[in-house]
Amino acid sequence: MSEVKSVAIAGASGNLGPHVVKAFLDADFQVTVLTRSTKSGTGTGKGTYNSRVKVVPVDFTSVESLAAALKGIDALVSTVAGAAIESQTVLIDAAVAAGVKRFIPSEYGSCTTSPKVAALPLYASMFKIKQYLEEQATAGKLTWTVLACGAFLEFVLGGPMLLDFANHKATLFDKGDNRTTVTSLPTIGKAIVGILKNFNATKNRVVRISEAIVTQNQLLRIAEGLRPNIKWEISEVQTSAVLKEGLDELGAGDFSMPVFMKILKGTALAGDTYGAAFDETDNDLLGVKELTEEDLKKLIAGKLE
Ligand SMILES: NC(=O)c1ccc[n+]([C@@H]2O[C@H](COP(=O)([O-])OP(=O)(O)OC[C@H]3O[C@@H](n4cnc5c(N)ncnc54)[C@H](OP(=O)(O)O)[C@@H]3O)[C@@H](O)[C@H]2O)c1
Repeated sequence: MSEVKSVAIAGASGNLGPHVVKAFLDADFQVTVLTRSTKSGTGTGKGTYNSRVKVVPVDFTSVESLAAALKGIDALVSTVAGAAIESQTVLIDAAVAAGVKRFIPSEYGSCTTSPKVAALPLYASMFKIKQYLEEQATAGKLTWTVLACGAFLEFVLGGPMLLDFANHKATLFDKGDNRTTVTSLPTIGKAIVGILKNFNATKNRVVRISEAIVTQNQLLRIAEGLRPNIKWEISEVQTSAVLKEGLDELGAGDFSMPVFMKILKGTALAGDTYGAAFDETDNDLLGVKELTEEDLKKLIAGKLE
């Protein structure tokens, strides 16, 4: 029997959040959504919720506002946007004030827990949040779990990051054999439920899930096998060069999205250099089933139609 019955989700209207809400509703938890505004949804859910969800507009800068909304809540799952990761200290303070037992921070990454990226922009804020959570846990105020899930499968197959299915182009990173863990959004939602159902086994640690470990060359081989008539335009780039370019541009004051994407690609797509492929996982504990080559073929066939 899970110790957790009521959960709150912050950032539920984005890309990942709706899948987390659905997974908790499917598992019969009491679900509260904390939102900046009931009209502010950006993701698939667009801020509309099932009638079983209690939606509470809050001020994310106010511990009092958040703590009032968190009264009686057992666990808080944050799926807030990347830009809001550092400000999760306020959410954590509110969770402690309200007596919330478990906090799952917004992170959900590939190499986000590798010590090698701790000092890099993009990742430093995640390390700060984890350290803050560790301090609260040491003081006995709260428990935490960080979920590392690899790249979102829908993002990997939906955009040109690994293969550009729309234009039949691929830029191979370090010749295309870098291994990357990928996991789909519904599976991440179910794994978060699994964390709370395995409350003690997931206490105060990073848990890892991996639906598949893929390489660009593997995906390209599958695509070519399915549609041999398609001619792919291939180019190559070194992840170390992409990372350096991103860091140099950021250092020169360019804080634009393409610059952050270079830092992301230079690390998360660099394979084993930054630990982006999870060979050891908590898949069994959290009920995550791995995709077969046949499953990948079906997904890629859908992208080639
Ligand atoms: N591994 C991967 O491939 C991958 C890919 C994308 C994202 N991620 C990670 O997954 C997490 C969620 O990403 P996402 O794409 O689902 O997020 P998102 O759609 O960009 O944003 C999620 C929600 O956060 C809330 N939000 C936005 N700005 C906020 C702010 N300043 N303060 C508080 N709340 C704010 C909004 O909800 P309300 O308007 O309802 O308040 C928004 O709908 C992030 O940690 C991100 O880094 C991982």
